[in-house]
Amino acid sequence: MRIMFSAAVAFSLLAVGGCKPGAGAPEQIVAPVLTSKEASDEFTFARPQEARVTHVSLDLNLDFAAKEVAGTAALDVEAAKDAKEIILDSDGLRIAQVTDSAGNALKWQIGARVEDKGEPLTIQLPAVAAAQGVRKIVITYKSAPDAEALQWLAPEQTAGGKHPYLFSQGQAILNRSWIPTQDSPGIRQSWDARITAPAALNVVMSGIVEGKAQPVGDDRHRFAFRMDKPVAPYLIAIAAGNIEFQELGPRTGVWTEPETMKAAAAELADTEAMVTAAEGLYGDYRWGRYDVIVLPPSFPYGGMENPVMTFLTPTFIAGDRSLTGLVAHELAHSWSGNLVTYASWRDGWLNEGVTSYIESRISEVVFGEKRAAQERALAFAGVEKAIAEKGATSPLTALRTPDGTSPFDTETAVTYDKGALFLHSVEKIAGRKRFDAWLQSWFDAHAFQPATSEMFLADMRKNLVKGDAKLEAALMLDDWVYAPGLPANALRPDPAAFAAVDAAVVRYAADGTIPQREWASWSNAERMRFMQEMPEKRSSAQLAALDSGLGLSGTGNSEIRFLWLKLALGNRYDPAVPQAEAFLSRVGRNRMVTPLYQVMREQGAWGMAIAGPLYQRNRAGYHAFTRGNVDKEMGVKD
Ligand code: BES
Ligand code: ZN
Repeated sequence: MRIMFSAAVAFSLLAVGGCKPGAGAPEQIVAPVLTSKEASDEFTFARPQEARVTHVSLDLNLDFAAKEVAGTAALDVEAAKDAKEIILDSDGLRIAQVTDSAGNALKWQIGARVEDKGEPLTIQLPAVAAAQGVRKIVITYKSAPDAEALQWLAPEQTAGGKHPYLFSQGQAILNRSWIPTQDSPGIRQSWDARITAPAALNVVMSGIVEGKAQPVGDDRHRFAFRMDKPVAPYLIAIAAGNIEFQELGPRTGVWTEPETMKAAAAELADTEAMVTAAEGLYGDYRWGRYDVIVLPPSFPYGGMENPVMTFLTPTFIAGDRSLTGLVAHELAHSWSGNLVTYASWRDGWLNEGVTSYIESRISEVVFGEKRAAQERALAFAGVEKAIAEKGATSPLTALRTPDGTSPFDTETAVTYDKGALFLHSVEKIAGRKRFDAWLQSWFDAHAFQPATSEMFLADMRKNLVKGDAKLEAALMLDDWVYAPGLPANALRPDPAAFAAVDAAVVRYAADGTIPQREWASWSNAERMRFMQEMPEKRSSAQLAALDSGLGLSGTGNSEIRFLWLKLALGNRYDPAVPQAEAFLSRVGRNRMVTPLYQVMREQGAWGMAIAGPLYQRNRAGYHAFTRGNVDKEMGVKD
């Protein structure tokens, strides 16, 4: 593996790790861009070997009426001496002008659109004194009203119902719709931003806040943020709305609408303990504060690990902290994903699988081994099911995904759960103490840098296996990462984890006995297991009995509600239709929304009579990511 950098980059590389910023402006850490084939990103137009962005400085106004962000992006660029131009990624950006730092116009051009990728924005580089290295370009621009990263919510889509709301979702390759930069995870950039918004709204970003909001004119105010560490550009995120803050612990807190605060803060009571647990496992939390924002329900994901400010769906609020594994997951990305980041989308498991493993380790510390073991068993069943569905020889079941796989189309059970199972299996074989020390050393050695599967395995061989031929053979490392299916050394879950539930499933399938008493004492994982394992075909009478026995339509737990609605719609159970309609009119979380439209479609005329009008009413309220997926289900052409 070769690391490429220009002379100027090589110079600033000296700052990576160790060096403290001196007085005055903070010193810029420049992370190297990997140039190995495995690290190449097919979803960017950028050619970082020639010229790369190292810092983004945003001055933007949020215009809720026009649904656009508008202003300037000033980019620091490191370029090879003879480089004449830099290529950025754009998706619908409306460029007004590009200048150098002195205001001299620079030539620019938007190239042809490529599906999924957007358009290249090619900018002539300003001339520069050779020794200086950094060149600045200033882009004046607007985002398009349908920018895919941004969701502009009408007041009716918020809990308060009075103010509009905005949030962004950058991962995977959506940030190019509101920030003109090189939108590739291996091209790390520090950033700062000044954001102007209506005075009634607060703004948060995935960086450290600088000072208090300053009034601008009568009815607007300006916020300032800074991220000094170089991050993957998909991690630049913003949210604005009628939101307030409540402390959770010394370095943790929650932002959300006043109407949601009480429930959100109660659900998040373990957040500080999670940070402490993660630090106990993998070393210092390096991002300063760990705050979360609980967004309106149209947020298309469960959570997003934006540094300093995890973004969360409100659907994790169950009232009993049973779904807060989601928070442990996003927090875990502070090591796997944000500190060390995949260089290309083919290595999704390196972020998500390693994170799911760490999530499990945090759960074990905070909630105990029993809950962690049940969650592992649930994940294992998901992996087996996915592999059975795709076929054990399908390349889609390998951790490293084939070239051309869309970064949005990865199979969760493989990327997340097979990825985590890999590390659980290595941990078991190598021993926990040794493995923990190695994983921490991996994060330390690659902090704030991009990585690949190849680097991960090479590092593991060098620093964990250390030439031990027996251990090497026992680990089956290459099989885990490159081969489809499940290696023979996969760690099997403890059969005791679900012994009670599985016995109840057998009883229920045999004579219809509903485990009404047990259900009350079961954990969330046990309840999910029961819902997943029961027979798929149910009569209306059987569904009515299940609902009244287990209180399914009354549940405040979105995971259970989702499984119930899937079962009910899959059996054309009319009494559940109003609940499904209410759920899908409120929640925009793709992992729940798309499968529910899918089951309805699978029910033919019965389902389409519900799904058609329902989607028509709600389509505009879903985030572009969810909308794109449901469009495919419903055969809607954009
Ligand atoms: N980083 C992901 C979300 C993501 C992945 C967005 C790939 C775009 C492309 C986030 O950390 C995540 O995994 N969210 C899950 C959480 C769950 C597995 C606990 C989700 O949203 O369901
Ligand atoms: Zn994740």
